[in-house]
Parts: sequence; C-alpha cells; structure tokens
Amino acid sequence: MNNTHVKAERLDKLLTSLGYGLRKDVRFWIKDGLIRIDGEMAVSPAQKVRPDQVLLMEKPLDHPYGLTIIYHKPLDTVCSRKEDGSLIYDSFPERWLGRKPALSSVGRLDKETSGLLIITDDGQLNHQLTSPKKHFSKTYAVTLDRPLDGSEVDTFASGTLVLEGEEKPCLPAEMTIHTDKQVSLVLHEGRYHQVRRMFAAVGNHVETLQRTHIGVLSLHDTALAPGEYKTLTAELLMELVSP
Ligand code: URA
Repeated sequence: MNNTHVKAERLDKLLTSLGYGLRKDVRFWIKDGLIRIDGEMAVSPAQKVRPDQVLLMEKPLDHPYGLTIIYHKPLDTVCSRKEDGSLIYDSFPERWLGRKPALSSVGRLDKETSGLLIITDDGQLNHQLTSPKKHFSKTYAVTLDRPLDGSEVDTFASGTLVLEGEEKPCLPAEMTIHTDKQVSLVLHEGRYHQVRRMFAAVGNHVETLQRTHIGVLSLHDTALAPGEYKTLTAELLMELVSP
C-alpha cells in the first residue's frame, strides 16, 4: 500500500481505533513526550496524521492498515467473544481486541474442532471469503467412531442429503477414504456443524475433526502449531486461498 494515499486523521482517533487506549491516555502520552510525528514531539490529540508518520514510545504503530490473521485454532477454544472458557482471541495481543473495526473470524469452527481459521478486521475480505459466489471450498480431516459402510462417498456427492431439521439438501461434497474410519471431506458451503451432522445423517459419529484447507491454502503448509498465527495482508491472503 502506498501510505501517502492514506487519509490523515486525528491522532487520538487513530490511536484509539488501533486499540492503544482511551483518548485521555493519548493526552497523557503527548504530555509525557511519548509520541513523535515525523520525528517531532506531538503537540495535540487533534493533530491530523497518517499512521506511517507516528512513533509511539519510539515504535511504529501496530498493523495500522488493517489486520488479517491465519490461525491454527486449537481444540477446546471457542470462536465467539462472549462465551466462558478459552477464546480464540486469547491467543492474540490484548490490544488487538480493542481495535475498531473489530476482528472477527471468517465463519466459525466448533469448540471441539481444530484447524485453519482466518480472522480479519476487513469486512470486504470476510464477505469475499464467505460469499457462495466465490466458492472457496473447505476441507476437513475426519476420524469416525464406526467403520464406513461404503455408501457415504455417493451419498455426499449426490446433492440429495438433507440434514436433520433442514429442508434444502446439502450441495455435493467430495469425500476421500483413507482408512475405514478416516476420511477427508471437501465442502462447498458452510452450515452449522455441517460435517458432524452429515455423518450423523448416515448413521455415524465424528470423533475428531480438523479443518485442513481453506480454498487451496493448507494448514500443513502454514507450519503453524495449535494456537500459533501469522499476520498478512488481505491481498496476500486472497492469493493464498485462490486456485
Ligand atoms: N463442520 C462441523 O461439524 N464443525 C465445524 O467446526 C466445521 C464444520
């Protein structure tokens, strides 16, 4: 991004939107000489600045042009911000939770599901990744409780499987068999608990579930351990997931 095209905004608004603190904190930092604008001490919270001009405590601002994250979600964490227990957001610096616009996950994985998750503050990117028009497939590694009965590949591919409590059949999904209890499944839509419910609909039960790919982006290639993440630009993320 060419930073000179970024709109200048009030210093206090910029710092609060990046989660650094409250407007009153910015006033104290200015008084204490902790903020420089183009090398000079900041003088007023109302000064109009671009992010690249600002040093706070001698450090450049943290991801001032948007924040997009590739994350390896561990088991037993939830994607919501409001539930009790371990949240995916606990893996990130606390300051990121104070950012506006807020970070949110692109779709959700269940508490008992691990794997690849994208988290972003970029509403347009989030929309592009979830829009049915774009068709970014999701691939899951599944371990089953009972051996396959041999009909599942055809049933899932048929586009006729109706999940309990729904009327519209699932879109065709591709299943690859690794062993009689281990498969991978490629979905082209994202319904609530979809993988677990698809196997429940054919009389089986999912024991473990991991999302291994979003589009062509592979969890393995990211080399991320559970709980680890990488930040990148929205443009690069789109390149990585696109075929
Ligand atoms: N399908 C599920 O059942 N759970 C997930 O987390 C994702 C897909």
